[in-house]
Parts: sequence; structure tokens; C-alpha cells
Amino acid sequence: MKYNLKFDPTKYEVKTVRHDGQTITYRAFEHIVYVEKPVDEQYQSMNIFVPECYYAGERINGYTLHTAPIFLPNKVGGYMPGLPDEPNGTDFGHFSTSFYALQRGYVVAAPGVRGRVNRTEEGVYYGKAPACIVDLKAAVRYLHANADVIPGDVEKIVSNGTSAGGALSSLLGATGNHPDYAPYLAQLGAADARDDIFAASCYCPITNLDHADMAYEWMYNGENTYHMPRRVVENGEERFVPFAEQMSEAQIVLSDLAKPQFPAYLNSLGLKDEQGNALTLDESGEGSFKALVERYVIASAQQAREAGEDLYGIDWLKYEGDVISAIDFPAYVRYITRMKPALAFDGQSMTTPENDLFGNATVNCRHFTEFSCEHSAQKDMAEAQVIHMMNPMNYIGSGDAKVAPHWRIRHGEADRDTSLAIPVMLATKLRNAGYPVDFRLPWNVPHAGDYDLDELFAWIDGLAHNS
Ligand code: DHB
Repeated sequence: MKYNLKFDPTKYEVKTVRHDGQTITYRAFEHIVYVEKPVDEQYQSMNIFVPECYYAGERINGYTLHTAPIFLPNKVGGYMPGLPDEPNGTDFGHFSTSFYALQRGYVVAAPGVRGRVNRTEEGVYYGKAPACIVDLKAAVRYLHANADVIPGDVEKIVSNGTSAGGALSSLLGATGNHPDYAPYLAQLGAADARDDIFAASCYCPITNLDHADMAYEWMYNGENTYHMPRRVVENGEERFVPFAEQMSEAQIVLSDLAKPQFPAYLNSLGLKDEQGNALTLDESGEGSFKALVERYVIASAQQAREAGEDLYGIDWLKYEGDVISAIDFPAYVRYITRMKPALAFDGQSMTTPENDLFGNATVNCRHFTEFSCEHSAQKDMAEAQVIHMMNPMNYIGSGDAKVAPHWRIRHGEADRDTSLAIPVMLATKLRNAGYPVDFRLPWNVPHAGDYDLDELFAWIDGLAHNS
């Protein structure tokens, strides 16, 4: 069966949702399959939600049916499949972000996305990389292809995601219309339209996976205890309990080998700070790039302090008078703790979510770095092109992708799921290529997203009302 990619404005239900004493009435266009030849209709479909009052000619927050930004949340976590969001549910433990987006006057276009564990009855995997980014692009193409009938302004698509979903948001923002993805999109019968977006909001993006191990060890080498929350099920209830374990001798050796690889990679990027000074690292991992990472942590602490947070007793913060002027980096790392043993992403025994992401139709898990592959008994490696297509760093400034003109990146100051170097490199590369980035490390925030929606929405409104 071939799906029709023409949006039907008459196929909707009017729904209401009540939360926090607020009722929202919205028009729900649901289960819209966004490719002609889906491999999974459940995931390759999108929900579009519109404040109902727009159809009576009303405005919310200055927006109308035709001018409202289109908020595009993905619900991918852990590179797992993500279902289309609904305004009346929960997203990772908090009430649905789509609810608040509707309340703010946005049109919500919530696509489902295939993920690494999707499998046919015959056992064939169909959600391995690059399926997740291909699906998001196909959904954006559907919106552009229907520009004249889609509610909202297709020139104001704002992507949002957390963690793996934040990584996908960054990839969507970085790779607009790039031909690398075209064959995959053609195979699915995606609309023949643009897939660039207006803005990318990325919470703790678990990205740049092929350099994430060395970046992790650059930060965590020497910290040999890891604190990976352990999942326990008691009386049918799932909980995550704190857990500390020592790295093995072999893992410590891998950490020692991975750390010194990072400076050469970082230096190869040719990044510059706001004043145009080169950001570099010497062989031991020290240098101006590290100073920049430290400045972000210092700014985070200083902002918390100015907001009245009691930072007394945090001994890794150094003061000059009333101002936080420096941090003791190893002590900071010890304080937030290492989460993952080496190698954190391309695991030597190939059991991480990322190994699983880089599988293919018949092989569940594969390597995606030469280094881990060399040190592993298993030699299956993902295709170089697929690895390339999963990393936004390869497309920013390359000239042949239409990069989103607006970016917002948040990575919690206490988030240990990936190295701080990862979001700092992403934000810096974007800025160096001429794209403004609103980037901060919110104080004491762990691996999480959507925790500051008022600020996120104020950022979107600022962009939408001024362009
Ligand atoms: C996510 C977290 C991780 O630590 C990781 O390696 C990949 C994905 C997540 O929360 O999506």
C-alpha cells in the first residue's frame, strides 16, 4: 500500500486536556503516515495539534493559525523508538511538553521515529542508524510539502529533543537538505521537499558518538569508580538505584589509551573562542579548550550563586572576592562522578545502546570506532558512511547542508552521560560557522530535558516575533 502524502485538513477530532487547573481545546490530526512506503506505520507517523481557537480567528501570544511556529518534539531516548507525542500524557516523567507548547500558541507536529530495537517478526532489524534521523527528516519534508495547508508556519519549524533525542535534534538542525540522506528518504517514498528547519533545541545531546569515548576519558580518566544507576524491579515497580563499581584493570588501560587521542581530534577541528583565539589542547589534555569548558562550569555556578543558591561547602569552586573565578577540574569531576566505565560508548564487548544503534538488519550490535574494534574480540564495524551521517559535526560549516539558523543547547552541569566537551565542541563549531547558539550548563541539573520550558519558549518567541 502506498500512502498519500497530501495533508487532509478535514480529518481531525477536537479534544480537550486538563492539567494544572488549565484546560486546552485543540484540533488533533493524528496518525498521519509521513512517507509513502513506511516500514512501520506506528512509528513513521505524526500527530499535528493546533489550538482550536485559531479556527475562530483568535490569537494566542500574538500568533494565528498561519503564523504560529511549529514545535517538533521527538520522544526518542536511548536511541530507542519514539512514539508521536500527545498533549495528555507524560514525557520522561513530566507532563507532556506538547501541552505547554499548545498553551503557548504553537502548532505541535509530533513525529514518531524508528529506533534501534525495532524488529520484524522474522527478526530483521529496521530501526538501526540512520533510520532515526531519516524518519525525522521525512516528517519535516511532509510539513514542507504541505506548506499551503499545514497549520502554522513551516518556515518556523523548531525541533526539540533530549539526550539521544537531543542528538537527533542537533542532527536535524545540522543536515538540512543534505544529499547523503536522499537515497534513504527516496526508499521510503518521503515527500520531495526541503528538510531544513528554523531552529534546533537540544537538551544534553548524546552526539558525536565516534569521538565520545576519547572525550569521555579526557574528562574522566583517573576516576576509576563508575556510578551507573542500576535498574531494579520490586513488586512490579521499576526503580533506579545508585550503584558504584570499580573499573577493571583492562578498562583502566583502555581509559589511559583513549584519553590521549582526544587532543589530536579537538585540535583538528580548528575551533576558536569568541575573541578568535585558537582553542587547543596539548598532549596531556591541557590548554585553552579545557579553560573554555571550565569557564562554562564557572558561569553555571556563578549564575546559581546570583540566583541565591547556597554553594557553601562545594570545595572545588574558587573565589576572588565574591566572584567564582576558577574550578579545580579533577575535584569537580570527582564530585559529579563518572557514570560509565571505559569505553563508554563504543563498548569493547559491544553492549552499549550505541553499539546497538550501529547494528544493521541482521547484526544487532557493531563497533563504530577503529579503536574499540582493535581492542575487541568482535570485529564487526558499521559502515563509515553511516557513522558519518550520525554526526552533526561533519555537516556544520561544510557548505552543502542548510544548517538551522538558530540553536539552543542545554547540558546539565551535573550530567555525566557524556563528556562536557561534546556540547562545548558542538556549540563552538556552530558559532564559528556563524550560527548563534544559546548555550548553557544549568547548575546541578542531571541528564534531563524540558526542565525550563518558560525559557525555551521565550527563546522561540524571540526568534519567531523578530524574523
Ligand atoms: C541516552 C543516554 C545515554 O547515556 C546514552 O549513552 C545514550 C542515550 C538517553 O538518555 O537517550
